[in-house]
Amino acid sequence: MNWNFRKQSHLLLLILILDGAILGAAAGGTYAGVSGAPGASGDSGQEAGWETHEIPAACGGIRQADSGGGQIAESVGKKYVALTFDDGPHSVYTEQLLDGLKVRGVPATFFLMGQNIEGKEALVLRMRDEGHLIGNHSYRHLPMTRERAAEVCDSIEMTEQMIEQITGKRPEYLRPPYGDWNEELECKMNLTTVFWTVDSLDWKLKNTPQIVSRVLKGTRNGDIILMHDIYDTSVKAALQIVDQLQEQGYEFVTVDELLID
Ligand code: NI
Repeated sequence: MNWNFRKQSHLLLLILILDGAILGAAAGGTYAGVSGAPGASGDSGQEAGWETHEIPAACGGIRQADSGGGQIAESVGKKYVALTFDDGPHSVYTEQLLDGLKVRGVPATFFLMGQNIEGKEALVLRMRDEGHLIGNHSYRHLPMTRERAAEVCDSIEMTEQMIEQITGKRPEYLRPPYGDWNEELECKMNLTTVFWTVDSLDWKLKNTPQIVSRVLKGTRNGDIILMHDIYDTSVKAALQIVDQLQEQGYEFVTVDELLID
């Protein structure tokens, strides 16, 4: 499936480039929220003092490209979407989410915060063993462009090591808190930064029907959905979203499967 999807994605991208629809995103090397050069600004994420993930500026162009991609992909019969969960693991809600995803046979991507890992190693192992992709969300939830580069790199590296000690594998994907990132923060770590194209605003809504409705309205083929597995309402919403998108013919993949080489 992976190889086929990559092949299909290349075809999609080519068509979109020819169509002119993706020129902006392609110039920045971005597609489906995965980017080496995000347009995130440092002033996002301060509203509630906790989780206020704003959509990075780079996502504006991606959204346009995705709506074209959806139409083309539907013609070949496959629609893909990636669920991503930040800020965990959480001892109660992450476990409920893993149970629900397992029953449904759905893989997701978890961007773990280093400070939340200790004592929840079993959950991290479950993620690995049940086919989920584990990424890095830094040690603490700090806006990275406002920190000293050395501290940002330490925060990322510490989390890399914590996850590697548990799973035996260094994460290859990084989601910067608040999407706050710039090219000077590469840290020589060879991590791929992953943003999102659908923001569930689950941290703010804390209302399962509202989260479900917002995500279902906003989701197209190739999207990356941002959620947080640290709230009861988010976990319930995520499982309802899975059920409804599966009914609509979507297949769930981890974010690495949406990457274009
Ligand atoms: Ni976060």
